[in-house]
Amino acid sequence: MNILVTGASRGIGAQLVTQLAEQGHTVIAASRNITELRRLATTIAEHHPGAAIHTLPLDLSGNNAGDNFTDRLQSIIPHLDVLVNNAGALINKPFPEITLGELQYIYEVNVFGPFRLIQMLLPMLSAAPAPSHIVNISSMGGVQGSAKFPGLAAYSSSKAALANLSELLAEELKEKNIRVNCLALGAAQTEMLETAFPGYKAPVTAAEMAQWVGWFAINGHRFFNGKVLPVALSTP
Ligand SMILES: NC(=O)c1ccc[n+]([C@@H]2O[C@H](COP(=O)([O-])OP(=O)(O)OC[C@H]3O[C@@H](n4cnc5c(N)ncnc54)[C@H](OP(=O)(O)O)[C@@H]3O)[C@@H](O)[C@H]2O)c1
Repeated sequence: MNILVTGASRGIGAQLVTQLAEQGHTVIAASRNITELRRLATTIAEHHPGAAIHTLPLDLSGNNAGDNFTDRLQSIIPHLDVLVNNAGALINKPFPEITLGELQYIYEVNVFGPFRLIQMLLPMLSAAPAPSHIVNISSMGGVQGSAKFPGLAAYSSSKAALANLSELLAEELKEKNIRVNCLALGAAQTEMLETAFPGYKAPVTAAEMAQWVGWFAINGHRFFNGKVLPVALSTP
């Protein structure tokens, strides 16, 4: 399969890219830090010389997010089977102190960026020979009725928006042969978790979480469409 993973430079995304490339998929790893992406691709290629791993710079924030991205992607693969919108940004700050700029940035990366990226990639997703799959990575904090935590107003509300968008798009894109699901992740040990809950020890590693996400990205759309699925042992 041809698979695009955003937020691939570290954490769950980096593990996901590694595992999918090892399984023989053609993987495009995207994020802002191209140096880190290239280092990751080199490491994967060293361990798996035949691995089809490509890197593309992508900044999901700002009005020019993704300019030329589709052209560059199309020069690597003719169609896209799986898009994992894994990139995410988090700010941990008391509600009264969150500036408009910070709020806008979190929504740019977590909602507007994926929104525009999906729009841009629709032709490549509908060109897939079998139904393609968009997996949006949300958080337990974005699930209605889950436990909530102080300091995460911008982050968790943006993740709720992404979850809702997933339900909407599943309906709107089904005629285009595109299925859309959302994984609301619980805690996995990454830099982001440390920012959200300093000192907290997560019950799963980034690699373990990536294993589940990867399996779901490849197989989940045979069983689910328009679902927001909690992937959590505990909250957070
Ligand atoms: N870890 C957890 O416990 C947990 C729990 C619930 C949900 N999640 C979700 O899981 C996903 C992965 O989280 P993680 O813990 O692996 O986070 P992480 O270690 O902080 O990695 C975040 C990734 O997003 C990319 N990114 C950040 N800002 C970006 C931007 N403006 N444009 C493009 N890419 C950007 C980063 O790459 P660059 O810096 O190179 O751009 C990085 O690769 C996120 O969506 C997060 O919200 C994580």
